[in-house]
Amino acid sequence: MASDSESSPVGKDFPYAERYGVLRAIPEEGLERAAILSQIAEMARGEDAFWETGKCSGTMYRGDLDHYEFLAECFAPFAHVNALQRDMCPSATRFEGEIIAMALDLMHAAAVAGHHPADEPCGSVTGGGTDSIVTALLAYRNSARSERGIEVPNIVLPRTAHPAFHKGCHMFGIEVVNAPVGADITKVDVDFVADNIDDNTIAVVGSAGNYPYGTIDPIDQLAEIAEQRGVGLHVDGCLGGFILPWGEELGYDVPIFDFRLPGVTTISADTHKYGYGFKGTSTLLFRSKELRKHQYFLMTDWPGGKYFSPGLAGSRSGGLLAATWASMASLGRNGYREIARQIFETAFAMQEIVRGHRELRILGDPTFCFSFNSDEFDIYHVNDFMRQRGWRFNGQQYPNAIHMCVTGPQTQPGVVEAFASDLAEAVGYAKDPPSPEPFSGAVYGGVPGGPTPEADDFIRDVMVGLLDKMQSVP
Ligand SMILES: Cc1ncc(COP(=O)(O)O)c(C=O)c1O
Repeated sequence: MASDSESSPVGKDFPYAERYGVLRAIPEEGLERAAILSQIAEMARGEDAFWETGKCSGTMYRGDLDHYEFLAECFAPFAHVNALQRDMCPSATRFEGEIIAMALDLMHAAAVAGHHPADEPCGSVTGGGTDSIVTALLAYRNSARSERGIEVPNIVLPRTAHPAFHKGCHMFGIEVVNAPVGADITKVDVDFVADNIDDNTIAVVGSAGNYPYGTIDPIDQLAEIAEQRGVGLHVDGCLGGFILPWGEELGYDVPIFDFRLPGVTTISADTHKYGYGFKGTSTLLFRSKELRKHQYFLMTDWPGGKYFSPGLAGSRSGGLLAATWASMASLGRNGYREIARQIFETAFAMQEIVRGHRELRILGDPTFCFSFNSDEFDIYHVNDFMRQRGWRFNGQQYPNAIHMCVTGPQTQPGVVEAFASDLAEAVGYAKDPPSPEPFSGAVYGGVPGGPTPEADDFIRDVMVGLLDKMQSVP
């Protein structure tokens, strides 16, 4: 099952340089197609082998090569098509319109007619979760500027909300009011949110669920506050939007977080996560068309002609729209529900295993994605051991914890059992580790006691170095 770590390319910076050489300029003569196809297949096989074990948290949401091959077949005929030029590709309008309609339906947009009859729910397909989030922020900012005259906008943002919100605020000159977590340390402190909305607040945010812990902020209470105070509420369902609704249908304890709540004004839900589409799409859904138009960009006096685009992207591949549409159309409600059932059952089984160790503690009340830590030892010792066994968790800080976002690959037979036996050994290892400092803690974990400015500078330099490396040749 596990890939051979000696020959696996995973975790190495430039594993292919020696095998295939390095292109430092466009080759004078093109390479043979057969050679290219063979290199592509070889690299993909080696990298797929890593997550196919089921030991990798998140990221490969469907984890089914047959599904991905089908999507690739749907992608190919439209890969070269620019979805911006709709006169040439009405297919893109069909795909995009139906993706949005299906997503709105999943988020119970029909309920809007009952509580806000003047509003017309609508949406956009964006390039991913971050794109959906920053685009929502742009719409809120522009709308607040033109309708409320707000020049120094702010949002009230849970500390656990995804960094994409900070990125968007950075891009669009929006101040962030950081809302701390409440008593369970995973969900936002609602009283803080209520107390910190001011005349310049354009929106508040809640996650369903949040990335660190997988838990769902009290969206019903946030919606009530937002509605009362006349500000927007963005629900970040990038992670949970396409799986939590099935959990509710299956009878799990999933609180309502969608357009059934009158105060919810926008929702991001990622088709490239639990929508099981290819990477590169997400949906941004609006309670009202009035708000969506504030994300549009229109230029009437450009020498190149009249220009208009719905979001941040200019040209986009029609292939991604086709493949995303195909994922939703082919799986159907029954397909999604059945995959979700397996994911929920697996996630709860894994959580029971964690709870079976008195040294470990699950944070909050998670469902498909959960995080755990320990009061007895640094959880990164557990991570160190599990890494040797091929597991790849996501690391957290404040407090140090590791999280497992359960996806298709974990639902394979034998993965839960492997988790149980590896975790039991890992707990033993963590109680008596070979070195007091865990090896993986430095990369993932918080600096004990909170980062000093020096430590923060150092970590930032490391991050810049990693980003530089990701875009370079050896
Ligand atoms: C809750 C949440 N919001 C937003 C994002 C950002 O999504 P993306 O990586 O597609 O930009 C993620 C990514 O994991 C997420 O978990």
